This record gives sequence, C-alpha cells and structure tokens, in this order.
Amino acid sequence: MKTVKTFHELHDALEKMERPLGYVPTMGYLHEGHLSLVQEAKRNNRSVAVSIFTNPTQFSPEEDLDNYPTDLERDLALLGKEKTDLVWLPSAEDMYPDDFQTWVEVDQLTKLLEGRFRPTHFRGVSTVVAKLFNALQPDRAYFGQKDAQQAAVIKQMVRDLNYRLEIVICPIIREPDGLAMSSRNSYLDPQERKAALCLSRGLEAARQAFLVGERSADRLREVVRTEIEAEKLARLQYVSCAHPLSLEELNDSIEDCLLSLAVYVGKTRLIDNIQLSGRIEKS
Ligand code: PAJ
Repeated sequence: MKTVKTFHELHDALEKMERPLGYVPTMGYLHEGHLSLVQEAKRNNRSVAVSIFTNPTQFSPEEDLDNYPTDLERDLALLGKEKTDLVWLPSAEDMYPDDFQTWVEVDQLTKLLEGRFRPTHFRGVSTVVAKLFNALQPDRAYFGQKDAQQAAVIKQMVRDLNYRLEIVICPIIREPDGLAMSSRNSYLDPQERKAALCLSRGLEAARQAFLVGERSADRLREVVRTEIEAEKLARLQYVSCAHPLSLEELNDSIEDCLLSLAVYVGKTRLIDNIQLSGRIEKS
C-alpha cells in the first residue's frame, strides 16, 4: 500500500496504477461502513484508492471540526488489511490555499433535509469531492447510503459537470443492535450509546407499519417521531418522508420514499435513513 500526501506525489503514483481505478473518499476514523466501500471497490476495479481528509469547508463554525475523531495509524492498518493500493492524505493547505475562491454548488437538492439545518455543508462537500475527483480521476467512486442526501448531491454534480465516472452507492452498515455505523458514534457515552438506538428503532417501526400497508407519509413520520420522543436523552431535529430522487417532502399517499431523520443524542448529532418501496422491499 502506497501512501502519498502532495498533489505531485499523487500524480506520480497514479501513473503506475492499473485501471479501472475505484475510489473511496473519507474523513478517516474508519469503521466497517467505510471498509465495506473499499471492499466493493476492490471487487470491481483493478486498483483502489482511498483518501482521508477531514474537510474543513463542510463544517460550520459551530460544528465539530476540531474534535472530529482521528486515528491515522489505525486507519492505515485497516486499509492495509483490505489491500488498498493507494492512500492519499491531502493537507488543508494544499486543498485550500490562502487565495482559494472557487466553489461547486448543487442548487435545489442541497436546500432540503440536512441542508435546512446545515446551510453551508453541501457546498463544502461538493467542492471538496469535485477537487478530489479532479486530482484522482477515478473510473468509479463509492459512497454510502448512510449519507443519502450526500449521495444524491454527488450524483447530481457528476451529471451536471459531465464527470466521466460512475458513482456507486453502497448499503448502510449497522452495528449488530441496529445503530448505523458512524465515526461520530465515538462521541457517545454508554448511556447515550443505548439511547442512540431510538433512530434505527424508529425507522424499523415505520418499516413494519409500511409492510402492513401504512402509506400515509404523515403517519410514517409520526411513527418515527413517537419512538424518538420516548427516549429521554434524544432530541429530534427532523424526520422526513421524501421522494427518493427529488428529496421533496411527500404529503399523502406514498409508493416509494426515503425516510430519514436527524437526532441529537446529548450533544452528538446522528442521522439515519431507510428506503421504503411498495414495489421491492429494501432496507
Ligand atoms: P465520511 O463521513 O468519512 O464517510 C465516507 C463515506 O463512508 C461516505 O460515502 C459515507 O456515506 C460512507 N459511510 C459512512 N458510514 C457508513 C455506514 N454505516 N455504512 C455505509 N457507508 C457509510 O462522507 C464523508 O466522509 C465526507 O462528506 C466526504 C464524502 C469524504 C467529503 O468530505
């Protein structure tokens, strides 16, 4: 496994890599969710690159950039085990020099859901991902359904800007008890860790309701809300039942939807989602 830092080192390393090249962008503190993307990239490409970069522009000043967990040594050991070919560790100075002034902004999709509470977040995500794609020029890039809106925004950007690569979205990896894996789970103390199960429990309760015929978007949102409100340490920020592609909120009888939510457990903000489909059941 080769590790590079500068753009120059990256370009040298890329010349020697076999194509197709699969790419997994991350912010580090890796878990099984990240590794599932690496494994999927490994299955379908001749070589695999992973970047670790805690992108400052997708955090607002009130958010957790400075406390974002890191453990580079552990991350590199995990990526080595997965037989990752290349790890790129860009520096903030290289990515955002002092005179940096160009942004990539996806318009409508970013105003909904997460975007209502994190208004500058997706501009940071799309800008950094565009830069990472430009530098790495992968044939395929892998993202998790855990961040469903991020996946939709990146797909839109790739279409709008004519990137010649395929975006592959991989399923959410969960802990055995249902909690969606996330680097931010490390902030939770043991009590909060238990309380955090209300997210997956709420979604599962809505899925059960959907399975037995519930098709009212309001009612499905209500099922989730009830589970979260029953948990003392949790505070619901939003629950959404939205069209899976446009991400517009649905109001009455639904066929397919993305059911998603953001919840504060103590000071930690967690997100989760499931897709419900009247045609093929997916979770
Ligand atoms: P990060 O939160 O490190 O996540 C990197 C990738 O792992 C994302 O595509 C995310 O959706 C995926 N992922 C996280 N948890 C997952 C889980 N439980 N199951 C499956 N996939 C999971 O997302 C980012 O970083 C950044 O915004 C980034 C795209 C790197 C841009 O800075």
